[in-house]
Amino acid sequence: MSETARIILDGKEYELPVIVGTEDEKAIDISKLRSASGYITIDPGFKNTGSCKSAITYLDGENGILRYRGYPIEQLAEKASFLEVAYLLIKGDLPNQKELDWFVNSITKHTLVHEDMKRFFEAFPTDAHPMGILSSMIASLSTFYPESQNPNRSIEDVELTMHRVIAKLPTLAAQAYKNNMGHPVVYPNNGLSYTENFLQMMFGLPTEDYKVNPVVNDALNKLLILHADHEQNCSASTVRIVGSSQANLYSAISAGIAALWGPLHGGANQAVIEMLETIKNDGGGLQKWVDKAKDKSDSFRLMGFGHRVYKNFDPRAKIIKKAADDVLDALGIDDPVLEIAKELEAVALKDQYFVDRGLYPNVDFYSGIIYRALGIPTDMFTVMFAIGRLPGWIAQWKEMVEMGEPIGRPRQVYTGANDRNYVDISNR
Ligand code: SDX
Repeated sequence: MSETARIILDGKEYELPVIVGTEDEKAIDISKLRSASGYITIDPGFKNTGSCKSAITYLDGENGILRYRGYPIEQLAEKASFLEVAYLLIKGDLPNQKELDWFVNSITKHTLVHEDMKRFFEAFPTDAHPMGILSSMIASLSTFYPESQNPNRSIEDVELTMHRVIAKLPTLAAQAYKNNMGHPVVYPNNGLSYTENFLQMMFGLPTEDYKVNPVVNDALNKLLILHADHEQNCSASTVRIVGSSQANLYSAISAGIAALWGPLHGGANQAVIEMLETIKNDGGGLQKWVDKAKDKSDSFRLMGFGHRVYKNFDPRAKIIKKAADDVLDALGIDDPVLEIAKELEAVALKDQYFVDRGLYPNVDFYSGIIYRALGIPTDMFTVMFAIGRLPGWIAQWKEMVEMGEPIGRPRQVYTGANDRNYVDISNR
């Protein structure tokens, strides 16, 4: 395989280095292209452009492979706890028992949020979308811990900030839900696991002991693991570029939450359920909706279908689809929306338009059905995605800082007006 790529521009030949990753992925390094030739490259949506080298997550879109630090997600989803996977993503290796105990204890003791933050919740409209609340709340954590704003802070301080945001995100998410419901806040219970604690803060009441259903807890653990990282997706890239300006970690995570909210990204899990409900209420056949999704003059898309990288099945969707069956069976729930989802998948995957474009169900297609079975309200689905993705965002931010990446500042090709003089308003 050639070590370099040759390009001829204006009759002159340039040689660009080729880099090869540990899974034999290849890239042309164009970091010197502009200084050598005056040319830049352009690639809207970065569909063919790598932003960095990374050792965190490997995914193979053609073969439906996803590994965190080399470990297949199928094994991690079955055998690991979410905080064990968070440690793996952030530190690079699975923890031994002593390391895991240290990590879990450090996070557990930071689950409370400053009492002054209660006033922020009161200021939001009662129907405020929890993603808007969460993005604001996480950014405001930087004002309660100003030492996090120091770019030259110690490793210990950085670690403390990481643990604080992992600990407090579920607390703030549950408080956003309680605020919307007009229910009293349930404080963290540090005697419970990370997922059990979240469930009791969400569904418990101060007046009673909440009993966590093990089926619900196991499903939540699995879902959070499956969402934990996904290499350079839109929100992870947002976290990396915000962090590259040396803005603090809370602000970078807040930006990641904002990016995830979009219906083309993490917001799709809410959009899928809303779409399936519309189809159910419409009562018509499914082909009509598949045809609408294919119609370029119609803005309707099959939410939860398609992916920038996976042009075959999304391995996470396969696991979640099976988990949806298991959870609904175990909880004795018959959700007609699950059947509609399965039928819609079957109809779409027989349709040449979807086959030709490699459009398969993605992670968001079935996850909402499980969240709904767990009692999570629809507008909290993307919040669940954010709680799962948080360790991945932190790992990506840490890698960017440790690699000393420069501030992200893409170039452009200018296509606006050429040089012209100001004209007095009386002459326009
Ligand atoms: C996530 O990047 C990640 O890793 C993201 C994620 C993660 O873990 O971080 O995996 C999480 O965001 C999953 C994706 C959730 N979004 C949705 O489910 C929204 C619906 N999907 C689409 O909007 C779309 O598939 C995207 C945004 C996911 C990907 O879009 P791309 O890669 O920019 O592809 P495209 O829009 O250029 O589509 C290629 C073709 C187009 O048709 P043609 O121009 O070739 O005729 O496929 C069509 C599109 O119109 N198409 C769809 C479609 N998705 C793509 N047509 C109908 N329904 C769809 N859902």
